This record gives sequence, structure tokens and C-alpha cells, in this order.
Amino acid sequence: MAKVTIIGASGRVGQFAAYSVSQIPFVTKIILFGREGNEDVLEGTKWDFIDSFAALGRNLKLFWSVDPKELKDSDIVIITAGIPRCNGQDRLDLAKKNADLIRMYAEMISKNAPESIIFVVSNPVDIMTAVALKYSGFPQNRVFGLGTHLDSMRLKSFVANHFQVHVSEVHTRIIGEHGNSMVPLWSATTIGGIQISNLPAFASLPKEEMVHWVKTAGSHIIAKSGATVYGPGAAIASLVKTVLGNENRILTVSAYIKSEVHDIGNVCIGVPARLNRMGAFPVPIRISEDEVKKFQESVEKIRIVTAEVIE
Ligand code: 2OP
Repeated sequence: MAKVTIIGASGRVGQFAAYSVSQIPFVTKIILFGREGNEDVLEGTKWDFIDSFAALGRNLKLFWSVDPKELKDSDIVIITAGIPRCNGQDRLDLAKKNADLIRMYAEMISKNAPESIIFVVSNPVDIMTAVALKYSGFPQNRVFGLGTHLDSMRLKSFVANHFQVHVSEVHTRIIGEHGNSMVPLWSATTIGGIQISNLPAFASLPKEEMVHWVKTAGSHIIAKSGATVYGPGAAIASLVKTVLGNENRILTVSAYIKSEVHDIGNVCIGVPARLNRMGAFPVPIRISEDEVKKFQESVEKIRIVTAEVIE
């Protein structure tokens, strides 16, 4: 039994995220939440979903609202609202514009759903996660962001395709900024449980090319079809299922770190975190010297922009 609110449900990512979440069996109530002026889109989306539930045999309560009181008793509040990237734009360009909106929603959630978990998707997600953490006043574990989970899924599928194995046989992660300074953890990548560097084929793996494709995947999709929708939506639902299902899986989300990665801390950024009903708990890890250096650079970049939007 879980209530999920999606703030930004009049937008394409919010709509597909809500739809993906509606397929999680133990989600019993969803609020499609948006700003005044978007009532018609929210109403139409609600009835469109309900038509699909009839065909799919889903039986959950679905409402839309622009009234903050409807956030009450939400187990998790997903924030996809914000100005999306345009073609050719960097996610960090949105920081100042979206920070005020995320602050408003964080304060709204704190007032109306004080026991909920906040899951930030809006970009630049690492900085927006820090904004939500600060202005909600929630404990660190109850605020996390999509981070580099989607990037990790992209790399996972490229590696599986290269080695012609089932995607579930590849375990890999990207940490750091959900952006150009992201850091692939080849040191933590396995195929069928075998360390990738122990596979002779690793030497010929086009690592740089693969990472470049992951870094530019979002921009490429936006240039072609206007927005990334299905990747983020499915990634969001996979995290919601892990949290609300109390699964304790270790996924790579944007979370506040103190010293879990080689004593680097005091920032919200993509790191491996254990996810359960209480939220996200960064897992202490040790990585290669080169990966630490790149992670430090990514942290410094995020710290600078975070400081610009949080007084
Ligand atoms: C992406 O990379 C939404 O920034 C997200 O698709």
C-alpha cells in the first residue's frame, strides 16, 4: 500500500514516470500534481491512464490536483517539474531557473507531506537534489535524485550489446555528475560476475566511445525527438519500486555524501546507495586512483554550481 505524488505530471517525463509507477503492484494511490493553469492536461492524463488500467487490470486510485494539501500522506514525492533542456543546452544552464521552483516545492512537501521521501528528477539533478534537501529540512536519507542511475543503465546496455550478453549479466555504474563530468566505474564492472578487466575482450572494448555516447545520449535524443521520456520514466519507476518495496538494492542515485567515497563529501552527487523504505543510504566504496581523481573533479564542478544557487 503506497501513495505516490508526481509533481510535474503535466509534462512528458512526469506523465510517463507516473504511468510507469502506476504499473508497480503495491502502488495503490497516485496524485498527478501540477501548477494552476495545467488543470486540463492533468484531467485528460488522468482519464487516459484510467482507460489503460481497465485494459491492464490495474486497480488503483488516481487523482490530479493543483492543491498542496493533496500531498498529504504521500510515501514518496517525485519532482519532475522544471524548465527542460533545449537542444544544445547543458543541464547546468538550468540551475538558477529551476532552483527557485524546486525550493518552492521542497517547502510545500515539507509542510504537507513531512514524512515523505523526496525523489528529484529535475535537472541539473545533483544541484536540484541539494536544493530540495536544504529547503525541505528533511534528513539526508529522505532526499535523493535520479543522479547517474539512467547513465548507468545506458552504459549497462552498451556493454551488454558489445559482449552480446543479456543485460542482466552486466553490473556497472557511473558515478559523479549527471552530466559531462560523470565517471564510469570500470573497476566495479562485471559480466556474469567476472571482473570485466579479466576478460580478454576488455582490451578492445571502445571504452571512451561508449562513455561519450552515454554523456551525449540525452542531448542526442532531445535533438531528434524533443525530450528524453521513456528512459527517465522507466529509471524513475525502477527506483520507486526499490524504495517502496524496501528492497535494499544498491543503485546509483544523487545523494548527500559525507565521506563515503575516499573521504570526499559535503555534496549531493551520483554515488552507489542502498535504497529502501527509509530512503537512500550512500555505500562506502573504494575505487581506482584514476576514478577518484575524476570523481573529485566532478564533485568540485557540482560544488561550485550548488554554491551559486544555494545561499
Ligand atoms: C537524461 O539524460 C533526463 O537528463 C536526463 O535523459
